[in-house]
Amino acid sequence: MDGVTDLPFRRLIREVSGGDAPLFVSEFLSAGSSLFLTPANLRATRFDKEEEPFCMQVFGHNAERLAGAALKAQELGASSVELNAGCPARRVAGKGSGSGLLKDLPNLRKVLQAMKAAVKIPLFLKSRIGWDENSICIDEVLEIAEGEGVEQLTIHGRTKEQCYKGLANWDAIGDIAAKAKIPIIGNGDINNAELALDRMKNYGVKGIAIGRGALQNPWIFSQIADAVSGKEPAKITPSQVCNAVIRYEKLLRADSLREGQILGKLKQLSSRMFKGDFRQAILRTQNIQDFLSHCFNLSANAFSFPYSVGS
Ligand SMILES: Cc1cc2nc3c(=O)[nH]c(=O)nc-3n(C[C@H](O)[C@H](O)[C@H](O)COP(=O)(O)O)c2cc1C
Repeated sequence: MDGVTDLPFRRLIREVSGGDAPLFVSEFLSAGSSLFLTPANLRATRFDKEEEPFCMQVFGHNAERLAGAALKAQELGASSVELNAGCPARRVAGKGSGSGLLKDLPNLRKVLQAMKAAVKIPLFLKSRIGWDENSICIDEVLEIAEGEGVEQLTIHGRTKEQCYKGLANWDAIGDIAAKAKIPIIGNGDINNAELALDRMKNYGVKGIAIGRGALQNPWIFSQIADAVSGKEPAKITPSQVCNAVIRYEKLLRADSLREGQILGKLKQLSSRMFKGDFRQAILRTQNIQDFLSHCFNLSANAFSFPYSVGS
């Protein structure tokens, strides 16, 4: 997730969820400039050895530039490279990149062909189901992906026009999973272990991808692993949450972020993790010390995720 899944955030997830998140993906990397390794991309391509296999995601619409970006990702040690055909932001989709690729399927094919020819590592695709409800094209996307040697297709079950509104259409994901020869990873609205199990059992997907659910509950991956192995998902206590927030601040500081940036990232996490008066209070804080001191007064009813306990 752009602006979210950077190195400190992924380190936090790894620390609290152990080895239970099997594949981390970078923030998306723009292939818009002829110089792929811009300072922003250089920063976003950093990953820890322990994160392997690590996937780097790229976005753009120019086949030659995307092929170059894929090659760079391979040179930087990515285990796989993924093309983004899902981003709905106007600055991306409006230029024919991200979900804009769903409006020009011949170009999607051309881009995948060029990327595939450029690298030896597996090529993945992340797509929405279509541009809008009148132009659902995920069947064609699957056909193009399989024809061009894509090895994994992650489907966010919304259209570009839906952005993040409504619910992800898991029936559409299930239909594609039933006909696909390549692994389909289902994505959309999974924010607890029961939902994760339901999606994996009932929609024929090979796996699930989690975005916002990891911001709401960084423990979600270990809880899903518990549920998959038939155990009750581990319950999270206020002191675990408090320790995780304190740890996140340290991880952000160690990554040379400025005070304002650190506070911004702490609030980004908190705005999804917490609810009610506690959330309001913590989002109003003006400095890191004030923010952290609130965390010592956490109670279980401040959490917005299930499986939390009050001791
Ligand atoms: C802040 C934010 C940034 C995102 N950035 C990306 C991105 O860079 N690449 C991508 O494939 N999806 C991105 N997404 C979409 C998510 O990966 C995911 O497809 C979507 O949020 C639905 O899944 P979820 O309900 O598990 O969050 C982003 C979502 C959010 C909320």
